Amino acid sequence: MDSDWARGVDIDTPSAARMYDYYLGGGHNFAADRKAADAVIAAIPDLPRIAQANRAFLRRAVRFLVDSGVRQFVDVGSGIPTVGNVHEIAHRLDPDAVTVYVDLDPIAVSHSRQLLADTPRATALRGDLRDPVDLLAQLRQSPAAEVLDLEKPVAVLLVSVLHFVPGDEAYPCVATLLDAVAPGSWLAVSHSSVEGFAGLEKDDFDSAEQQYKKTTTPVGLRTRAEIERFFTGLTLAEPGLVWVPQWRTDEADGPFGDEPHRSGMLAALGQR
Ligand SMILES: C[S@@+](CC[C@H](N)C(=O)[O-])C[C@H]1O[C@@H](n2cnc3c(N)ncnc32)[C@H](O)[C@@H]1O
Repeated sequence: MDSDWARGVDIDTPSAARMYDYYLGGGHNFAADRKAADAVIAAIPDLPRIAQANRAFLRRAVRFLVDSGVRQFVDVGSGIPTVGNVHEIAHRLDPDAVTVYVDLDPIAVSHSRQLLADTPRATALRGDLRDPVDLLAQLRQSPAAEVLDLEKPVAVLLVSVLHFVPGDEAYPCVATLLDAVAPGSWLAVSHSSVEGFAGLEKDDFDSAEQQYKKTTTPVGLRTRAEIERFFTGLTLAEPGLVWVPQWRTDEADGPFGDEPHRSGMLAALGQR
């Protein structure tokens, strides 16, 4: 595949954004992404379903946040646009809702920009969660500042991205972002957990981890307690930190039925 959107992008190094696009059945990925993603799926056959369950959580979280009065969304690690993007869900409920998408991956950003070309209340930035000072500076300038008002509450969405910022480095990054947003703002997180993948054979786990080491964003799981730590000082919305398919599910029978831990991911929303 070669086209304008791929110009200047290193297509020989797999990318977490494009591998995730592949899990979801999208078409914005290259041979190196598909090879790495297929190797991860061979080790964790549930992965496409996990990605679907995570997107379903994101949709429920946005609906909950709009119902709770939030009208501004900053979606960091937003990925390549797919069905049911944040601005689409939010706009359906309130056409005045605004969304700023942020991603490290140039292809995710260029596709988001294309999709948003005729959408005045949403924009996309290239930014790095590991550099929150630069990210905040970008949010305070055009084009983000034309849609976003950081003096008013926002929802910071860190959905399936914090495991790409392993180690203690992630905590001050999240805290810096939350300190900069208005009281009443929200944090939404989904995160691959140690407990969620504990049932995997060690060889399978190592093999999946190895594929992500080839990307620019190696993966690092956290324990439940380590994930909960991101919410220090925030008030958790019911039902707290739970498996992704369990978070305010509106489906009688979620994608993993009575085995929600097979999603491997924990999720919660908390308010400042
Ligand atoms: C698994 S996808 C999740 C996409 C979307 N949030 C979702 O849950 O459907 C992870 C995304 O995070 C992005 N990402 C990884 N590390 C990042 C960082 N340090 N800053 C910003 N984005 C990052 C990747 O490029 C990728 O698009």
